[in-house]
Amino acid sequence: MQDMKEMKPLLEAIMKSAKRIKVAIDVKDIGYSQQENSSGETQLQLDIQCDMIIEEELSHVPSVHTLASEEKEDAMAVHADGKYLIGFDPLDGSSLVDVNLSVGSIFGIYTNDFEAKSMLASCYVVYGPRVELVFAFEGQVRLYLLQGGEFEYVKEIKLNEKGKLNAPGGTQQNWEPYHKAMVDGLFQEGYRLRYSGGMVPDLHQILLKGGGLFSYPATSDKPEGKLRQVFEVFPFAMIFEYAGGGAIDGKNRVLEQSPRHVHDTSPCFFGSNYEINRVKEVYANV
Ligand code: AHG
Ligand code: MN
Ligand code: MN
Repeated sequence: MQDMKEMKPLLEAIMKSAKRIKVAIDVKDIGYSQQENSSGETQLQLDIQCDMIIEEELSHVPSVHTLASEEKEDAMAVHADGKYLIGFDPLDGSSLVDVNLSVGSIFGIYTNDFEAKSMLASCYVVYGPRVELVFAFEGQVRLYLLQGGEFEYVKEIKLNEKGKLNAPGGTQQNWEPYHKAMVDGLFQEGYRLRYSGGMVPDLHQILLKGGGLFSYPATSDKPEGKLRQVFEVFPFAMIFEYAGGGAIDGKNRVLEQSPRHVHDTSPCFFGSNYEINRVKEVYANV
């Protein structure tokens, strides 16, 4: 049993990284680097800088065994006698920084390996007009706000059974017809479109407004979806399940998946129960 005492140094290191990343974002030049990450995306200097900040802060924590980042091909060994493996996306939605939309950092805290069932806690930070942090552990989802230089606890996050927001990801042209019909069906029921292109603020909005659906399906150009299991999908899946909603790949819980590689992706749907059940009904027959 892991208690909060063991999680505290990890959470504090994440909080320290978040404060430094906020400072790094608030600069004029966020220019492109010459490098690509493991998913073939051109990295921003800012992606690399945020990766370094998190690596530095988490390496100081003696209980950290391994770090795996969206921005690095291979996992990195840190303390041989450490017990936690951290998978993180240093700056999710980084291509939105130049247009001043919200971005985030995502963390999954694992033991033994990077399988979903080995995840003990997860966390994300939203850098928006305000900096907020959400931490899921032992069945609870806690919201913190950065105020006067410190993260202050605000409240526990709980989803309603049904929401009003619909955040459909991926290129529509490449959606399967049944997926398009499902998305259209929700709009016909009165759902409102909320999609910024950053999964952190998009999912944060659904969590704080009580519910809805975020989808990033399998598409003809991306049959395995776009979002990465270890750094993006699993951490948010734990948060949605603990908040009383669900996270599935269409048919099954994403928290039952075993990635073959740390950079593997999966189609994913996050939402409150009503919308997740709708996805299951539609995807049951395909
Ligand atoms: P990243 O910036 O780490 O590569 O991730 C961006 C992700 C995610 O935040 C967002 O939901 C999704 O990409 C948007 O993709 P589409 O533009 O294809 O909808
Ligand atoms: Mn990302
Ligand atoms: Mn990223």
